[in-house]
Amino acid sequence: MEQNIKLTKLAKCAGCGAKVGPGVLMGLLEGLKTHTDENLLVGFDKSDDAAVYQLSEELALVQTVDFFPPIADDPYTFGQIAAANALSDIYAMGGEPKLALNLLCVPEDMPKDAVHALLLGGYDKAYEAGAIITGGHSIFDEEPKYGLCVTGFVHPEKLITNSGAKPGDILLLTKPLGSGILTTADKAGLLGSKERAKMHGIMATLNKSARDAMVKYRVHACTDVTGFGLLGHLLELAQGSNVSVELITARIGLYDKVLEFSAKGILPGGLFRNLSFAQALVDCGKTDPALLNVLYDPQTSGGLLMAVHPDDANALLAELLSCVPLAQQIGVVKEACEKRIYLN
Ligand code: CO
Ligand code: CO
Ligand code: CO
Repeated sequence: MEQNIKLTKLAKCAGCGAKVGPGVLMGLLEGLKTHTDENLLVGFDKSDDAAVYQLSEELALVQTVDFFPPIADDPYTFGQIAAANALSDIYAMGGEPKLALNLLCVPEDMPKDAVHALLLGGYDKAYEAGAIITGGHSIFDEEPKYGLCVTGFVHPEKLITNSGAKPGDILLLTKPLGSGILTTADKAGLLGSKERAKMHGIMATLNKSARDAMVKYRVHACTDVTGFGLLGHLLELAQGSNVSVELITARIGLYDKVLEFSAKGILPGGLFRNLSFAQALVDCGKTDPALLNVLYDPQTSGGLLMAVHPDDANALLAELLSCVPLAQQIGVVKEACEKRIYLN
């Protein structure tokens, strides 16, 4: 392998775009016997971001794992993004990450300094998050993959699931959308270096600040927007909470050039898996088709999507504006209706 290695050339799908689609996943998990335990507060039947197990009246353990093929050519950048993405599921539950284990797949001939840079990216992000990487597991694989298994903690009463949204809640989002489409454009050589650097910077940004702000307010539900796209994750939140939601699509912030690429049909495969999962329960109104694509676009290391008590929404939004990549108020939670998501 050449020294100037292009990691994304070794990957069939980039980042969370490689995730098994939500509908397919449900089929694969069907019929598996799940065991119950009174201390298991969130298990795998809830389509939530992480599992939560109560240890005492004041402490619950939060556990998650995430890994994927290269989303960036530069190994250090890829390591940072993969780690930020894995840590995010702990933040989405209102928790704080403490321990992490590396999951690493590398081609046998991948240069040692590239592997080292990749791992360093992960270590640096974990350190920034206040977590310690204590080990891991590595195997040889033609396609590189990297991620973390993360353990965190949360006070059981401060736990935020994706199933507590209430009618009247305001929906906030903390990063722009479109990283799947931009990565696809980048693989085709269509993305400028400025746009690429901006996207990588935002994907590598921890959702820590968003979480730290969130836990000070009455946030009833939260999830992070990753592989299933905004509408896939929002649908899980709406179904889990037994509510419907209305999105003001003009308020949703996108990365530069995303609409342009979307209109030209430069779209990742995962987008269509998300669309077929969610579309029956989405009333898309008069939404422009190019924008609709973006709402289904699989995100890697996307922002937190929160449903907050209406009286706290302005204060939380004001706080988020100073500490997250893009704080946006994108919609409102309604009583359950025929469809789960209404686009305006
Ligand atoms: Co998640
Ligand atoms: Co995840
Ligand atoms: Co092992």
